[in-house]
Parts: sequence; structure tokens; C-alpha cells
Amino acid sequence: MRVSVFSAKPYDVESLTAANAGHGHELVFLEPRLSPATAPLATGSEAVCAFVNDDLSAAVLERLYESGVRLVALRSAGFNHVDLATAVRLCLTVARVPGYSPHAVAEHTVGLVLTLNRKIHRAYNRVRENNFALTGLLGFDLNTRTVGIVGTGQIGAVFARIMLGFGCRVIAADPAPDAECARRGVEYVDLPRLFAESDVVSLHCPLTADTFHLVDAEAVGQMRSGVMIVNTSRGALVDTAAVIAGLKTGKIGHLGLDVYEEEAELFFEDLSDRVVSDDVFARLLTFPNVVITGHQAFFTAEALANIAATTVDNITAFERGGHLHRVLPTAS
Ligand code: NAI
Repeated sequence: MRVSVFSAKPYDVESLTAANAGHGHELVFLEPRLSPATAPLATGSEAVCAFVNDDLSAAVLERLYESGVRLVALRSAGFNHVDLATAVRLCLTVARVPGYSPHAVAEHTVGLVLTLNRKIHRAYNRVRENNFALTGLLGFDLNTRTVGIVGTGQIGAVFARIMLGFGCRVIAADPAPDAECARRGVEYVDLPRLFAESDVVSLHCPLTADTFHLVDAEAVGQMRSGVMIVNTSRGALVDTAAVIAGLKTGKIGHLGLDVYEEEAELFFEDLSDRVVSDDVFARLLTFPNVVITGHQAFFTAEALANIAATTVDNITAFERGGHLHRVLPTAS
């Protein structure tokens, strides 16, 4: 099958080419992001392969359908960027890659927690300038602290296990509690209680209409003074203006982000010689207690290989009528 692969970076080309050996699909690698302007590049392909910041709105899906596309193979677990109602109306199949490496994202989340707590980002710069002073680098023991996890699916459950290993008290909010997490000692509570009792709040739920701006001014108001908030899930779970206000008052003591509401215009590109016009993002970068990574939590060798393998399996299953990881409007 001919597949137009959008947002293709060198590592995508390498991993998908390796996974495609033996499947024989014609993979057409395209550097641009999928958008109304670039959708015509898929003409002649029966499938498109897309990543998290590709535009899969109604207008783009309609354009793809008109040009003969019948499968959207996502290289991601999240699918909040797909207009599923339109996909269903057009009979476009949407497939994704669930659980390619929950460890990759959970371990990156732990990295953000430790960096923020022990100020490793600041210590790194100080030591390079022969500044060995410790003033300003004071952290806290994670042992016995309360970690609140919003969403204990594949990633949240791994993060919970790691934080239990640190000796933390782990509480969680999830409409579908995980029995294994509960067995290991995770206590399920409602969101207001999670916000009120947590020293660290970590987001691992999908972005849906219900979870949009889950961390807003009201939620920040319910949290402990000096709370650490970490978001490695999807940017719009957090109302950025509200967390900036919380950082300015000191209510939020630490903020770790791997995702950002308006990341589509920034992340995955080298913009080092450009002026960033997003003033909200620029403001976030001024805080010494904010650490941002550019949607790299998934980025391990194991995850890339799994993403590529499942993506190619999805394409082959679509072509031959086998099982694929289909996304339906009711899926969570
Ligand atoms: P999952 O589907 O296994 O787990 C999501 C969990 O969230 C489920 O247990 C679900 O019941 C729960 N949930 C749904 N609505 C909720 C709500 N309102 N409050 C609390 N919990 C709620 O998903 P998985 O694989 O653990 O991924 C989680 C998210 O991580 C994805 O949706 C995606 O947005 C993000 N992600 C980020 C990556 C990165 O590189 N930064 C890479 C992969 C995923």
C-alpha cells in the first residue's frame, strides 16, 4: 500500500523503513506537517501516517478522502487531534499505537520531578561556570511525600510503581481505577482531594472535552502551597495562564512540562535562529522553577521501534483485513 508519512523526521524514516522490511508498503516520507495546505501531497496514497501535531481536522480529512485516502495510521497513542466524527462519516479508518512504551513516558516524568526538585538544570549551568555554591539548590526528600496521579492507565500505572519505589504515598484519580495499582497501595480519591493532598501532581489522562483545562485557576487554588505540577500528557490539560499566575504568587513551586497547549507551532523543529512570537511560552521560560522539554517523553529507542512496528502492522492489517488498533469515537 502507498502511504504518505507526514512530519517525517530522520528517526521516523529509519524506524519505519526497518519495520516495513517484509511488509512491502511504499512509504513516501514527507517532512511537512499535515495541514490543509499540505494535504494534497497525499494524492495517490491510500493511507496517511501522522504524528501528534499533524492537523486531522474535518477539512483535512475531507481533502484526504477526496484524494483517495482510506486509512489514517497514527504514530501516537493519543488521538485528540483527530476529528473522529468526520472520520466516521467518511468511513475513514483511524488506527493508533496504544502502549508502545509506557516506561518511556513514565521515566521521563520521573526525570522532570527529580530535575525540578533537586534543581539539576540550574546546578548543571552553575558547575560549568565554576560556581559550586549550593544556595538556591535546596530540594526535598521524595520519600513519604504525596504524589497525586491523574489517570492510572498504562503510563500512570508505571509512574505510580516508580514513585512507590521512592517511598512516596501515591494517590490517584481515575474514573476507571486500576486493580493492580490499588493492590500495590495506590489510594483512589476524587480530584479535589488529590489536588488538596499532593506535593506532586502528575497528569496522565487523555485530553478530552472533560479533561480540557483540568488544571485551571480553581484547581490551582485547591492545591498545596509550593506544589509541583508535571504534565507529560497533553498541553491543553493545563490552562497555561492559570499556572503562570500560580507561579508568580509562589502557589506553584515547580512546573514540569513535556507538552504545551500551543506546541504545534514550536515543538519538533529547530527554531534556534528565530524569534519565538508566543509570549505565553516565552514567559514560562523565564521562571527558574519551570523545566520544559519539547514532547520528548516518548523518545526512546524501544518506543520508536514499537511505534514503527505497530504502525506498519496496522497498515498491513487494514490492507489484508486483520486486527488493527482502530480508534472509535467512544474509545477513551
Ligand atoms: P491510557 O488510555 O492507558 O490511560 C489513560 C487513563 O486516563 C485511563 O485509565 C482513563 O480511565 C484515565 N482517565 C480518563 N479520563 C480521566 C479523567 N477525567 N480523570 C482522570 N483519569 C482519566 O493512556 P496512556 O497510554 O497511559 O497515555 C496517557 C496519555 O499520555 C495519552 O492520552 C497521551 O495524551 C499521553 N502521552 C504522551 C506522550 C509524550 O511523549 N509526552 C507519549 C504517549 C502518550
